[in-house]
Amino acid sequence: MSVVTHLECARCGKQHEPGRVYNLCSCGAPLLVRYDLRRAAETLILDRMGSREPTLWRYREVLPVTQDASVLCLGEGFTPLIHARRLGKKLGLPNLYLKDESQNPTGSFKARGLALATSMAHELGIRKLAMPSAGNAGGALAAYAAQAGLEAAIYMPEETPVANRQECALLGAKIVLVPGSIKDCGRAMREQLQGGEWFDVSTLREPYRLEGKKTMAYEVVEQLGGRIPHAMIYPTGGGTGLIGMWKAFAEMEELGWTGGLRPRMFSVQAQGCAPIVRAFAQGSERAEEWDDPQTIASGLRVPSAIGDFMMLQALRESDGAALAVSDSEMLEAVREIAETEGLLTSPEGGATLTALKKLLWDGFLAGHETIVLFLTASGYKYQEVLEMMTAPS
Ligand SMILES: Cc1ncc(COP(=O)(O)O)c(C=O)c1O
Ligand SMILES: [Zn+2]
Repeated sequence: MSVVTHLECARCGKQHEPGRVYNLCSCGAPLLVRYDLRRAAETLILDRMGSREPTLWRYREVLPVTQDASVLCLGEGFTPLIHARRLGKKLGLPNLYLKDESQNPTGSFKARGLALATSMAHELGIRKLAMPSAGNAGGALAAYAAQAGLEAAIYMPEETPVANRQECALLGAKIVLVPGSIKDCGRAMREQLQGGEWFDVSTLREPYRLEGKKTMAYEVVEQLGGRIPHAMIYPTGGGTGLIGMWKAFAEMEELGWTGGLRPRMFSVQAQGCAPIVRAFAQGSERAEEWDDPQTIASGLRVPSAIGDFMMLQALRESDGAALAVSDSEMLEAVREIAETEGLLTSPEGGATLTALKKLLWDGFLAGHETIVLFLTASGYKYQEVLEMMTAPS
């Protein structure tokens, strides 16, 4: 059972009671869920996890949902961690792993966050959920809202891949297409839904999506038999995955799972939209908004993020880095992962391989290290990209 104690502001530290509906702290920063980890450690024992169900709900003690009846489950989480033997051999990395997030419901890791956010909304009696989405999160929200019988409204950029728009429509969500990026979608949504009964589930503007995303780190540790990878490379937009996983390592340390070891966290963005890379290079605590964001990796077309300071903190605390790759490099990498490992990933997933090569080349990472790349979505959701890649030249 969940052992939530309170919610805590990521900036001012103010504590908030659990079991209530929240967006941001009164200071404008995201809220983080805190648990009684000493109590959780009594039952959440690394070498006794084998008998639990193969979904992210196996980590129930460190998830915020308190009632069984609130749990919405479509089989999310506990995705395969694949030992990339052929790709690893090419790169001189015998310990290279791919976390295949395409096997989540709706084909992306966004299912993790939205399973938690929608279950919590269901538990707290919220009936109408709205959010801006670059595509994959919208599909995931639509799916869980359908399972719970809740209403979903999704504001998407006009350029969102067609598969994302179709899945949202078929899953019964209301879709609003907005010119511009996800930032413009957020603005339009807040203007249109102001004062109404719609609840805002934007990235980090509600506290529970993060709790779903963090389970990727729990799974990696469990699937590596308790070994902590040296490095994790993650395609970063709004940053919930990165921030969530860094939070998970702090929790796992207290649970006695990691012996105090943590991986170096590397964030990869697109050259046409790299606010975190720029801020990291400048040594800034916050990231300035990126003008005219452009990339085929729709999930990385996020010009500014409310959790920017948390991402930058995680990268620095972990002795990691942030780097940008071009769209053509991402596509080359998608092809290489497909040809060597049999996985058809999205451009965001491809970006992690290009980043890995650059990090090896620059001497940030070494051949003996255990490295995990996060393939965050299925390539099958990016029909436009697949057509471009297979068009006769
Ligand atoms: C496939 C994919 N990868 C990565 C990201 C970035 O995720 P995050 O918001 O956790 O940084 C997204 C976000 O839309 C995405 O759809
Ligand atoms: Zn605060």
